[in-house]
Amino acid sequence: MTKTNSTIFHFVIIFMLILEIKIQLSEESEFLVDRSKGGLTHVPKDLSLKTTILDLSQNDISELQASDILLLSKLRVLRISHNRIQYLDMSVFKFNQELEYLDLSHNELEKISCHHTVNLKHLDLSFNAFDALPICKEFGNMSQLEFLGLSATQLQKSSVLPIAHLHINKVLLVLGDLYGEKEDPESLQDLNTESLHIVFPAGKESHFALDVSVSTAVSLELSNIKCVLDDNGHSYFLSVLSKLQNNSRISNLTLNNIETTWHSFITMFQLVWHTSIEYFSISNVKLQGRLQVRDFDYSDTSLKALSIHQVVSEMFSLPQSYIYKIFSNMNIQNFTVSGTHMVHMVCPSQMSPFLHLDFSNNLLTDMVFNNCGTLTRLETLSLQMNQLKKFANIVHMTKEMKSLQQLDISQNSLSYDENEEYCSWTISLLSLNMSSNILTDSVFRCLPPRLRVLDLHSNRITSIPENLIHLEALQELNVASNSLAHLPGCDSFSSLSVLIIDYNSISHPSAHFFQSCQKIRSINAGNNPFQCTCELREFIRSIGQVSSEVVEGWPDSYKCDYPESYKGTLLKDFHVSPLSCNTALLIATIGVTGLVLAVAVTVLCVYFDLPWYLRMVCQWTQTRHRARNTPLHKLQRTLQFHAFISYSGHDSAWVKNELLPNLEKEDIRICLHERNFVPGKSIVENIINCIEKSYKSIFVLSPNFVQSEWCHYELYFAHHNLFHEGSNNLILILLESIPMYSIPSSYHKLKTLMAQRTYLEWPKEKSKHGLFWANLRASIRIKLMYQAKEIDHTYI
Ligand SMILES: *[C@@H]1O[C@H](CO)[C@@H](O)[C@H](O)[C@H]1NC(C)=O
Ligand SMILES: *[C@@H]1O[C@H](CO)[C@@H](O)[C@H](O)[C@H]1NC(C)=O
Repeated sequence: MTKTNSTIFHFVIIFMLILEIKIQLSEESEFLVDRSKGGLTHVPKDLSLKTTILDLSQNDISELQASDILLLSKLRVLRISHNRIQYLDMSVFKFNQELEYLDLSHNELEKISCHHTVNLKHLDLSFNAFDALPICKEFGNMSQLEFLGLSATQLQKSSVLPIAHLHINKVLLVLGDLYGEKEDPESLQDLNTESLHIVFPAGKESHFALDVSVSTAVSLELSNIKCVLDDNGHSYFLSVLSKLQNNSRISNLTLNNIETTWHSFITMFQLVWHTSIEYFSISNVKLQGRLQVRDFDYSDTSLKALSIHQVVSEMFSLPQSYIYKIFSNMNIQNFTVSGTHMVHMVCPSQMSPFLHLDFSNNLLTDMVFNNCGTLTRLETLSLQMNQLKKFANIVHMTKEMKSLQQLDISQNSLSYDENEEYCSWTISLLSLNMSSNILTDSVFRCLPPRLRVLDLHSNRITSIPENLIHLEALQELNVASNSLAHLPGCDSFSSLSVLIIDYNSISHPSAHFFQSCQKIRSINAGNNPFQCTCELREFIRSIGQVSSEVVEGWPDSYKCDYPESYKGTLLKDFHVSPLSCNTALLIATIGVTGLVLAVAVTVLCVYFDLPWYLRMVCQWTQTRHRARNTPLHKLQRTLQFHAFISYSGHDSAWVKNELLPNLEKEDIRICLHERNFVPGKSIVENIINCIEKSYKSIFVLSPNFVQSEWCHYELYFAHHNLFHEGSNNLILILLESIPMYSIPSSYHKLKTLMAQRTYLEWPKEKSKHGLFWANLRASIRIKLMYQAKEIDHTYI
């Protein structure tokens, strides 16, 4: 192989590798098609062949055929729950070899047939109309099955056998309304699952004998339980619970939707106390009946955590203190009671093992755990959403809770009496949530000193008093939705790293903030009524200097509120010129401008003889003013001469001996300011007079001319002739050549003229003189209207 060949070969291999990687990538990416809630009656025909996830739930589909999904060879997930499918042949999925998740729950399935099944991980057939358990013998091949949802009205031990050898994570079994009592209690014993959830028919008295303590299950959930004692004081459900005492594997028990009596309710706890269950959760309980006081046997329990959620009691005359006593003396670590009408909780009568108590969303008052010295191990306590009112009582409550680290007393009506002197927080507290109360600035006078997290959002705080508090360990402070007018500095919170202060009344945040709070990792100060004035620019600039992740919500939640013209503008887009904001800069700018002007004027005066120009302009303006007052037709007739001649005294010989004779012999009238002098007028006026009464101005240029200042002035006036403005009224005769460098820079007018205009050059050869004069005469010959005699008496 030649060298080039081998290079190409390598290139091709690399190319193929890249291609392969690309194909793999595209195979892994999902293609989701969501056609749920679309009122469909059939599987749509227009599905992309790339579909990997298809959602057809909540439609009116009554049939699923092979042709519907045949071509979707990449399909992995199919959700078709909440439809009206009555019959399903599992072999419709024959060509969907990738299918691993199939949700057919909440249909009207009565029958399925399974000549061919796919190896699913998730199969949900719950909430259907099956009579017997829909377990085909082919299900036994689903070696990867993790979740199986079933429904039936009759249970038979044999139905479960095909899947007895699988290790399923979770089985959901929904028992239909017609589920009866004459079932085989052992039906579920062969199920091999970690977690079993049985949903009993709602509202039906549970006279069942089903043994739910499946030997493999670690977690058991039972829903829809109606537990009533019969005439013999016997309850089917309680006997089911007592059977759990023989099962040592089970550690999680969850009961949902329970209707029972107070007596059976307490009995349930008592039964569970002596099982292997560690986590017991019971929710949505409806209680009735009376309660007789009996002793509760706390001994010998595995229980660690008990949660009670949402309890409604139809009984009001209860031995409440007895119930509180049962609860408060429980020998468990975690205890949750929420969503009940509990109004009080008593102090445990001896050292309590409680570590985490959650009593949120009840009706507790601030007398809870008053003077309680037995909760010394307690680490977290939530009294969120209760009826707490006096902040001082809560502070006092924690006094003996030596291990308390987290306290949540948010969403109450707590307020702090300013006159309260005594501040007895337990110093162990690290996190305190007092959000959504009616606390004011005074709360900062009494805070636990080692606090790391403090949530005070949605209170009535108007300022954070500096110097008053020193929370050196505080890392997170949330004071959103208060009425604060300023950003706090970090002098009192030297460790602060998170500050949430949005929705306050901050109009002029200090730019100093980021300097003061060196450890800040995140600040949210959005949605404040920022006043977009000069001072704010500093703050905006200081935001620009920190990393963008630090400022939460930037730039969208930071908008100008004032002035009106900027209202709604993002702070990011707010710009004012540095000049209008900085007085020193403004003064400096004015000073510098003045200085530059002064220098310019000086330069003009020195180099361009400005005062002379000014004087001349003044004269000229006066003359012009006089001219204005003369009627126009008269002015037009003021031309009395063909030409005015300007020359240097040194060239007067040539003018007198050559120029004048040669022109005047042809009856051309010439104005010489010394000859046609009007007495009583200044020289300048006489020059102007002469220029303006002449059709053309002839300039005799020579090095002498350049030396003469007067000539230059004459040139200046001629060029700006009032009556022939812009017209081509200048004639330059170059008597002797003038080197450009010899023209002084202030004679820039002459320089430009010399550069622009073609001038008549005085030829040295005598033979050419005839032509020169003819040329000159031609350019100044014009018919003059004035008579010679009027000349000397007419002025403008
Ligand atoms: C108890 O509650 C705490 C806080 O909610 C939690 O972290 C812990 O895992 C719970 N322990 C048990 C045994 O449930
Ligand atoms: C404080 O409690 C409120 C609910 O009342 C919650 O939204 C917030 O996240 C809690 N704060 C902290 C810091 O946990």
